[in-house]
Amino acid sequence: MASYRVFSRVMAYQRCLMGSSLLPRMTTRLMSGLSPQFEEAKAKLSTLKEDPGNEVKLKMYALFKQSTSGPVTTKRPGMIDFVGRAKWDAWNTLGTMTQEQAQVAYIDLVTSLVQAESGAAAEAPESGQKYKCLLVTCEGGLRKITLNRPSKKNAITVEMYNEWVAALKEAAEDPGTVVTTITGAGDYYCSGNDLSNFMGIDPSNMQEYSKQSGELLNRFVSAFIEFPKPLVAVVNGPAIGVSVTVMGLFDAVYASDKATFNTPFSNLGQSPEGCSSYTFPKLMGPAKASELLLFNKKITAHQACELGLVTEVFPEASMQQEVWPKLQSFAKLPVKSLVYSKALTRDVEKDMLHKVNRMECDRLVERWTSEDCINAIMNFFSRKN
Ligand code: COA
Repeated sequence: MASYRVFSRVMAYQRCLMGSSLLPRMTTRLMSGLSPQFEEAKAKLSTLKEDPGNEVKLKMYALFKQSTSGPVTTKRPGMIDFVGRAKWDAWNTLGTMTQEQAQVAYIDLVTSLVQAESGAAAEAPESGQKYKCLLVTCEGGLRKITLNRPSKKNAITVEMYNEWVAALKEAAEDPGTVVTTITGAGDYYCSGNDLSNFMGIDPSNMQEYSKQSGELLNRFVSAFIEFPKPLVAVVNGPAIGVSVTVMGLFDAVYASDKATFNTPFSNLGQSPEGCSSYTFPKLMGPAKASELLLFNKKITAHQACELGLVTEVFPEASMQQEVWPKLQSFAKLPVKSLVYSKALTRDVEKDMLHKVNRMECDRLVERWTSEDCINAIMNFFSRKN
């Protein structure tokens, strides 16, 4: 509760800052080096209707300060000034990031929030209306699927699983799509299965519900196994659970150096999915895979890169500027050549992957109704009390 109060005060401060008539004067004085895009982003911020979540708000505050004043030079506020301390800490994490880099990161963050809220209608009027939990755009052969529940860290609801499968199908069938990317809106890539999927189920229907969930998961993972074109994850922040396990089925994984990777299955009384029980030992060796899949080890982007799960790590400040042009250039390659090359590298394993997927889902159908799992989910939802 206390932390909520702290953060709502931070937000109130932010709103006050953004709405203050002092701001334009102050910014003109301090920000002679500010780009017009930064000023535009600042103006757009006031159009946001939805609360983007506390972490995002602090990050936005920090980037704003770094853009306008440079790295923090003041002393860390004392314990009692907990609002000032939270803000100072957020600002301080940006270290020696330059004002220009901070501006770019600030613009990207505001743009992603505004797009998330508007359903990206301006970018993709047709597909934007199709999905409630995703933003889908396609330009120059590059399709971008953004998981869009930033206030819930992009946790995957039943509806979102279904939309994700539909969006992959759409990408596979669209002749104008060459490369497909998955990324997250806000500060997280994805926090995995939405644990509230398990809440509110009549106990007498638990077995049946668990079976249906197993079928949904099987369909979801199959969509990755069968996806015929290059599929790239742009991991903008922490990734948890199934969003990590399916990465073994992607063709490339580009990650921010602020991203982390965590598959806390045994903490939750569950077991691996996404074919990770097969792909992870193959990628990183069985001993390293066990640390992740059995013992809940959370790893950094650099560690994930050393283990072969991540293709390349980018500094958070410049990631968006570096990754998207690279992907745009991939999207100009001949699609047939890409599709045939992918088939050659992947198809020999398809039957095995489907078999593994089936076994993993069957085990989860059992795990989801176990006392271990039910207790872990109850603990998650009662943690804030
Ligand atoms: N399922 C359901 N809700 C989730 C969620 C998930 N996987 N991940 C985040 N949320 C919700 C939180 O309940 C919270 O909702 P609220 O604002 O209504 O209380 C909101 O998203 C923000 O998360 P919060 O926990 O307040 O932020 P945090 O920064 O303290 O922690 C996480 C973020 C992701 C570390 C934490 O929410 C978490 O551990 N989530 C569960 C992850 C998980 O176990 N996934 C399944 C793996 S198999």
